[in-house]
Amino acid sequence: NHGDEVTRLPKGWRNIGSTPQCTHAFFGDGRNFGALFHPEMDHTAGGEKLLSHFLFALAGCNPDYTFAPERFISESSRFMKDLVGEEKILAAVSGGVDSTCAWALARLALGKESVEAFFVDNGFMREGEAEKVRKLFNDPFFRIVNAQELFWQAIENVPYTGPGDEPFYFDTIRKVIGETFIEVFSGAVVGKYLHQSLRFLLQGTNNSDIVESETGLKRHHNVGGLPFDVKFHILEILAGLYKFDIRQLAEYLGLPHEVVWAQPFPGPGFSIRMWGKVTREKVGAVAKTNRILEEVIHRHYPNQHLKPSQYYVALMPLFTTGHIGDKKAEGWIWDIRAVSSNRRESYTTVDSFEFPKAMRRELNWRLLSEIAMDDGTRFVRVVYDDTTKPPSTVEPH
Ligand code: XMP
Repeated sequence: NHGDEVTRLPKGWRNIGSTPQCTHAFFGDGRNFGALFHPEMDHTAGGEKLLSHFLFALAGCNPDYTFAPERFISESSRFMKDLVGEEKILAAVSGGVDSTCAWALARLALGKESVEAFFVDNGFMREGEAEKVRKLFNDPFFRIVNAQELFWQAIENVPYTGPGDEPFYFDTIRKVIGETFIEVFSGAVVGKYLHQSLRFLLQGTNNSDIVESETGLKRHHNVGGLPFDVKFHILEILAGLYKFDIRQLAEYLGLPHEVVWAQPFPGPGFSIRMWGKVTREKVGAVAKTNRILEEVIHRHYPNQHLKPSQYYVALMPLFTTGHIGDKKAEGWIWDIRAVSSNRRESYTTVDSFEFPKAMRRELNWRLLSEIAMDDGTRFVRVVYDDTTKPPSTVEPH
């Protein structure tokens, strides 16, 4: 899918497989093998068989990996205690499964008074999110910080030069959000609640976050979006685990069901789920449509395991022709994406998830009739994104 081509094989190597587009698609010298395709992707027919054969029949590995929550808890506790000692630490808790699990582990290891947890409301969260976590984690060592204005001031200063600027613009938005996030933790916002400055900041970074920021695919706000000179020691206790294992761990730790099964939500939230300049009004409209999408999905898929792994509606501020009442009308477009991830929930590859027609009808009708912009702009078209990752990503930017 990258269009790269191996034109000549090294000495001693022979070609094993080709496709009409690619002469050397799979090749080797009997010990080493090379593939110009993605055997690790779920959509690659036979990919898993190929990798299993290499690992277990040729390389002599044993398929004996199991994730043991008890062992992980004791090892990570020892690690945190050795590193942190008697100090207090800060924890960034979004209410998602990763950060909540990291927080729970730190409390077990260091004692609950030693972990000062903060939910930072950046203004790009889902409707009612702050209220939801307030009820879920009612605890003297968990605080909700409303930093919406700080984030808005920071991103309203990012220049948007017009259509086509999106790649650079949204990359900058991510970076600015990452910087502001650290500013909240190092500055007066969090300082208002604490009498001492703390050296460690705990985050729920998982293995996919690390892999994805290393490929340069995304500037994850909890990894690549952080400023270079961050003054904290960042503690990423879950960095070796995929979400699949983290959910097991969360269940073992007895976290609430809705936290254990929370769908992934990106750190920059709704700010990256649109085209064009990010405005408060657009973020508000996106939050409303996502609430509608959630309502419809919960009703049609009461069983957690049948739901798509992640889903959202993004706003396309492109005028298209519609027909409202008896008249021609112009309006914008909603873009719906639902994906299913692979079993480990790495999100490095995903498949698109198809909703049944009856559900699409209901959703379309609600999205087009219930939401309009302040200046009267309506939405007259809904498009469903049917691409796999790769070549597309989960988020629009
Ligand atoms: P992409 O869009 O890279 O997304 O295919 C893969 C997974 O990562 C989430 N994602 C993010 N999470 N900060 C985050 O914390 C980010 O900047 C970010 N960008 C994407 C995305 O929602 C999906 O689950």
